[in-house]
Amino acid sequence: MVESSLVATETHNALTASESLVRDDGSYAPYEYWMSLWGLRELYAYGLDLLGDLYGRDVLDCGCGRGHVSVMLAKRGARVTAFDTSEGELATAEGLARANGVQIKFICEPFEELSLQDESFDLLFGTFVLHHVDLARACQQIKRVLKPGGRAVFVENSALNPLLMAARTHICGRFGVARYGDDHEHPLTPSDIAVIREAFPNACHVHFPSLLLFRLLDFYVFKRRSPLLTALLAKLDGVIGQIPTARRYGYLQVIHIGKSA
Ligand SMILES: C[S@@+](CC[C@H](N)C(=O)[O-])C[C@H]1O[C@@H](n2cnc3c(N)ncnc32)[C@H](O)[C@@H]1O
Repeated sequence: MVESSLVATETHNALTASESLVRDDGSYAPYEYWMSLWGLRELYAYGLDLLGDLYGRDVLDCGCGRGHVSVMLAKRGARVTAFDTSEGELATAEGLARANGVQIKFICEPFEELSLQDESFDLLFGTFVLHHVDLARACQQIKRVLKPGGRAVFVENSALNPLLMAARTHICGRFGVARYGDDHEHPLTPSDIAVIREAFPNACHVHFPSLLLFRLLDFYVFKRRSPLLTALLAKLDGVIGQIPTARRYGYLQVIHIGKSA
């Protein structure tokens, strides 16, 4: 960890103070492109509303990556622990926490095998981690580390739209359309959600707060070449996203889990 911390310090020395700054709504300039493209700050806000007041609560950031969400949680007054399996990402996250003047305990462990104490967290938060893990085993860990009455919120991708999934399989990576991610991950399917529901009967609720659909077309196919088209497709997401049923067919979802008291 010592070596990777040095790398993190160098990375953060290379960033200006304003580029290292994470605001308490999660804004973080180096990710701004993705956050605005995907409407992520709105989803963080939605997830944070579900979690409620964080001040003085013990909060676990699951699969924290480079840590901007961990820092956001700490800036809201939570006592934050964060884990990930990537030492490199954790080193960057440590640097980010330092640059933002917040204390966060980072640990390098897999979701499926956490060494954290039983019933040690009031709240769990995670962004785009569940689709990387063995869900049944991760759910056992969520249940174990949450205090009775604790809650967990995950911002995740979704496989509910068959057209999006067909495009992901047959178009991404071909015809000049970029492919992101690796072969070990897949957007969460209804059967994945069923695994979570089985672990938390009657206490797992899936929310679709916004629609991310036409903006993906703009990003992958039209490559955001025309500002007018970008604005139009973003507007389409906004207008069609007013229809609750339509929002189910976007690419993002928020999963809210409770552990009985
Ligand atoms: C898509 S990234 C999301 C990172 C961060 N939450 C964010 O929103 O920027 C997924 C993260 O999950 C981590 N990860 C993958 N498998 C994991 C596992 N089994 N346990 C813990 N973390 C894992 C990866 O190292 C990566 O940092």
